[in-house]
Amino acid sequence: MCSQSMDPDGSEQDPETKKYSSVCVGREEDIKKSERMTAVVHDREVVIFYHRGEYHAMDIRCYHSGGPLHLGEIEEFDGRPCIVCPWHKYKITLATGEGLYQSINPKDPSAKPKWCSKGIKQRIHTVTVDNGNIYVTLSNEPFKCDSDFYATGIFKVIQSSS
Ligand code: FES
Repeated sequence: MCSQSMDPDGSEQDPETKKYSSVCVGREEDIKKSERMTAVVHDREVVIFYHRGEYHAMDIRCYHSGGPLHLGEIEEFDGRPCIVCPWHKYKITLATGEGLYQSINPKDPSAKPKWCSKGIKQRIHTVTVDNGNIYVTLSNEPFKCDSDFYATGIFKVIQSSS
């Protein structure tokens, strides 16, 4: 059983620095079996994947239209493991949250399509393991991420649990 927070004073968020405390979301042995789990961390829904020996956490709702990424399949594109959103098949890299797409040169239709990145679209969070417990620390990167829209406001927690 894990304790909720790694913060010594138990505070959830320092409003001055917007630093989030780490939150325990489960046991290592469980996620290694299921290879994914969902959690609510400081009121934000996240999905944690265990893929090829590595942990990855991201906002649970797809940046495109809020699709449930925890129900998607993991596939490799251009050598990069991605979660494929079950709604419209957008591909999101597990490691960086980049949206990937294939492009072709219209002036050279015979050329092979190339994988390209739209940049970071899905917010990635940090996973740490301590004494067999899995902790998630929310990203406090100041840039605006498209997935923020579905992780905050009317779409968060209550909406996705229906
Ligand atoms: S909602 Fe994920 S691809 Fe559209």
